[in-house]
Amino acid sequence: MKVDLMIIKAKELVTVSGASRPRTGSEMDEINVIPDGAIAIVEDRIIDLGPTAEIVQKYPHPHKLINAENKVVMPGFVDPHTHPVFKETRENEFEMRLKGKSYVEISTSGGGIRSSIQGVRETSADRLFQLAVKRIKKMILNGTTTLEAKSGYGLSTESEIKMLKIIRRLNEELPIDIVATFLGAHEFPVEYKDDKNGYINLLINEMLPEIKKLNLAEYCDIFTEEHVFTIEQSRRILKRAKELGYKIRMHADEIQPIGGASLAGEIRAVSADHLGATSDKGITALKENGIIGTLLPATIFSLGLNTYARARDMITAGVPIALATDFNPGSSNCDSMQFINTLACLKMRMTPAEAITASTINAAYSLDRGDEVGSLEIGKKADIIVLDMPSYQYLSYHIGSSSVETVIKNGKIIKKNKPSENYPEGLPK
Ligand code: NIG
Ligand code: FE
Repeated sequence: MKVDLMIIKAKELVTVSGASRPRTGSEMDEINVIPDGAIAIVEDRIIDLGPTAEIVQKYPHPHKLINAENKVVMPGFVDPHTHPVFKETRENEFEMRLKGKSYVEISTSGGGIRSSIQGVRETSADRLFQLAVKRIKKMILNGTTTLEAKSGYGLSTESEIKMLKIIRRLNEELPIDIVATFLGAHEFPVEYKDDKNGYINLLINEMLPEIKKLNLAEYCDIFTEEHVFTIEQSRRILKRAKELGYKIRMHADEIQPIGGASLAGEIRAVSADHLGATSDKGITALKENGIIGTLLPATIFSLGLNTYARARDMITAGVPIALATDFNPGSSNCDSMQFINTLACLKMRMTPAEAITASTINAAYSLDRGDEVGSLEIGKKADIIVLDMPSYQYLSYHIGSSSVETVIKNGKIIKKNKPSENYPEGLPK
């Protein structure tokens, strides 16, 4: 068989192979590394993998060859929680927080999510698209090959549809897969601040059905939190979304333990995200209903807090854990899944292998894409990254620069960095 692309001699070929379902408990620590590994690709699929000597013998004349000597080869990162479409960044709020204001104080005094609304409403779709392209290209450089992207900075029917059409265009025009989530319940827009029921009715009677009809979003998300959508309001909105055929994800228990994880269980969400304040009862609800806990440590880090999610207790309880950047202009301006791996290890005591499982296969299941991406197995999509590093532990150990050298999506090389050869002219090699 003629192989289109072959990667050989990987010091460690990290397959993350295993059961065809989200990995739990001790499975999260098993990433199945093949030393001196090779992988053979035809079109967009992995057709074989194993020790280099074996693969080279089976397929002697690949069309294209990547020598990964002294490097790590692993599945591309899946980032299952981002907000990449917005006009301006909000580093002014970062400084306000450093001077003592809290995220909630800034939000309730007119900043926060509401301050991003105007930018999205006033800016042309083309301009917002270009800004998002620039941000997502950085994520690709950092090794992300599948991404979830949310609306939620429009908060009117028209501007939420505008955002979701931008996300659809990003998926069509960028080389990675982008999964769309409707987040109309991200905040109450100012014009409804004294008529919360009015906004909920708009969500239920107009936005959700209209967006479904246009087929613009696979998931419906909500910010369930004391200062935004209460448990009762969230239940109403999510029940309607479910009836209409959306899959559900939630911002749950980010700041206050108001029972977001339990509601995720009741509603059978696919994923409950943040979970910094989740109680034992919440953890049990996640476990019993097979819900993936998507943890976002860069948000806690960036907010200067210490309320990291209890990853160890969740893993012990059997909750499958995924990791994401939560890339957004307010609480987490992080575009690097490598940095997320570092935070997961240092701040939530996950092992380097657990962090890899959480940012590949479990993240893929959190987007209902676990059968296609997230691990290197025969028949799956060839979404692969080559990292200039000696071992998989180095991924979370190294801080501050990207080690990603080559990014392959659907069997095609979409990015090639050569960090080790990239010295500016004139510097000694
Ligand atoms: O996930 N929690 C709600 N949404 C974002 C914050 C968005 C913003 O502040 O603009 C989050 O942290
Ligand atoms: Fe978020």
